[in-house]
Amino acid sequence: MTILVVGSGGREHALVWALSRSGDHSLICAPGNPGIAEIAELFPVKASDIDGLVSLAADEKVDLVVVGPEVPLVAGLADELREAGIPCFGPGADGAQLEGSKWFAKEIMESAGVPTARGRVFSDLVSAREYIGKDACKYVIKADGLAAGKGVFLPNDSVEAGGILEELFAGKFGKSDIKVLIEDRLEGREVSILAICSGGECVILPPSRDHKRLGDADTGPNTGGMGAVCPPPGTGNCSGEHARTRIILPVLSELALRGIDYRGVLYAGLMITDDGPKVLEFNVRFGDPETQAVLPLILGDLGEIFMSAAAGGALPEHLTVEEGFCSCVVMASGGYPGTYGKGFPITGLDTIEDAVVFHAGTAVENGKLVTGGGRVLSVASIGDSMEDSLDRTYRELEKIDFSGKYFRKDIGRTV
Ligand code: AMP
Ligand code: GLY
Repeated sequence: MTILVVGSGGREHALVWALSRSGDHSLICAPGNPGIAEIAELFPVKASDIDGLVSLAADEKVDLVVVGPEVPLVAGLADELREAGIPCFGPGADGAQLEGSKWFAKEIMESAGVPTARGRVFSDLVSAREYIGKDACKYVIKADGLAAGKGVFLPNDSVEAGGILEELFAGKFGKSDIKVLIEDRLEGREVSILAICSGGECVILPPSRDHKRLGDADTGPNTGGMGAVCPPPGTGNCSGEHARTRIILPVLSELALRGIDYRGVLYAGLMITDDGPKVLEFNVRFGDPETQAVLPLILGDLGEIFMSAAAGGALPEHLTVEEGFCSCVVMASGGYPGTYGKGFPITGLDTIEDAVVFHAGTAVENGKLVTGGGRVLSVASIGDSMEDSLDRTYRELEKIDFSGKYFRKDIGRTV
């Protein structure tokens, strides 16, 4: 098959890499990055350019489009492709509302009986402030729409909560039809579940965990993710089968009742509480950097499975998964997630023997690989135990150098 992968980050590099492993597919990517360019042909069409992507897929006669990021899915890329007769692994704009509107997701979960934190939606500042009252640290405040991972707040007191609500209702993430979700704050360990879905069916990938905070021991600001492990320690009573039967399948059934045929990945971010796993959020795409830690363990032809899901066909009951543990550590530019420099030469990639390196914020200048973004690379390796995998990942990562490089030293070692 000819497969077009849409996107340009570490997640998309991992997707193209995993698809290339079967050796049976011709791979193209838009817009891609210098790492992806080594295994696929790149086309300079942005992930937000819906018309451009549909034209590219038609011109290149692709058999399947696999969409990495959420923005084009919420904007209806999958619908436009299907309209043009091109199979797409990714939900239409209707299903993508699970990520595009936190309130929609909450409402689906409540109707489907899926365990989640109690939540209420507000469309005005006064009632939202009144609801939180003096108990701000019992709640989580969430902007309803897409916010590039920056729309969730855990206030420490009512003054901080008031400031956050004021900003949100002043239009921080869009001025029309502003809605804010206020949710009970849950405690526990987090787990990410990725499910490949085809209408009412799904197959679960091994569970993983990302590390969102910038600093060791989960300190500092939230980031796009500083590393991930698969499978994660400390998931207690949350098995893949539990997630499949109690969370993913009920959501797919509830969507079907509303006429939504969901084809693509459904990502459930879970909190393992004393009362069992509860859903914190849904994403309608693969996680980043979870994908870089999960896909190296998947054997077999993912292209065939994505194609079957895109066509609404049957899915295997289980994926073939390598026995072992995978860890992925992100190397970022010093200063990220704030301001950082770019254009620093990256060295050492040619000395990596025992890990796979996925590119994200890299660029080529005068024929040399340089830094070009906040999260620059992710390094992943497999081991017989998580310790073994982490030792290998960190040993290989030390061979890579660029000015100002920063990475967490405790990925997989804190939960
Ligand atoms: P989200 O984008 O919804 O996953 O939220 C980002 C992060 O905020 C999650 O990974 C959790 O660490 C935290 N979070 C979200 N919702 C809750 C909640 N109800 N209780 C506690 N923490 C939460
Ligand atoms: N790693 C979190 C996400 O992809 O949303």
